[in-house]
Amino acid sequence: MKLVIGCDHGAVELKDSVKKVLAEFEDIKVEDVGTFDGNSVDYPDIAEKVCGKVASGEADRGIVLCGTGLGISIAANKVKGIRAALCHDVFSARMSREHNDANVLAMGGRVIGFGPAGEIVRVWVTTDFSHEERHQRRIDKMMALENK
Ligand code: RB5
Repeated sequence: MKLVIGCDHGAVELKDSVKKVLAEFEDIKVEDVGTFDGNSVDYPDIAEKVCGKVASGEADRGIVLCGTGLGISIAANKVKGIRAALCHDVFSARMSREHNDANVLAMGGRVIGFGPAGEIVRVWVTTDFSHEERHQRRIDKMMALENK
C-alpha cells in the first residue's frame, strides 16, 4: 500500500510518531509531504497535497493531521473522491474502514496522545472495507452528492 501523510504545524510531532508506527508495516510505503517544522502553514494546502495524491490514484490512502484534526478533515472532504474520517478512538477507526471505506484518516495533534493514535493507525491500515451491499449503496449515494 502506498500511503501519503501530511500535517500542519499543530501536528508535526504526531506525524513523526505515526510514521514510526507505519514503519512496522513492511507492505506500506510512506510519502511525507510535510510540514516538517513548527512554522505556521495553512492546513487546506496540506489537505490538498495529500488528498490530490489519493484522489488521482498516486497513493492508496492518506493520513492528514492538524491541531484538532477538524480543519484538515473538513478540507480533505472537499477534494473529489475523498472520504476522510476524523477518528480519535479505535472503534471509529475500524468502522470508518468497514462501513465507510474511508480513504483518508484525520487526527488532531493537540487532541490525542501518541499511544492511542498509534493504535488507531494500526487498526485503520489493517482493516478492510466490508463490501456489504448496504454499505456500498450508502457510499455510492454519499459520493453522488459530489455531483449535485
Ligand atoms: C492551527 O493553529 C489550527 O487551527 C489547526 O491546526 C487546526 O486545529 C484547525 O482545525
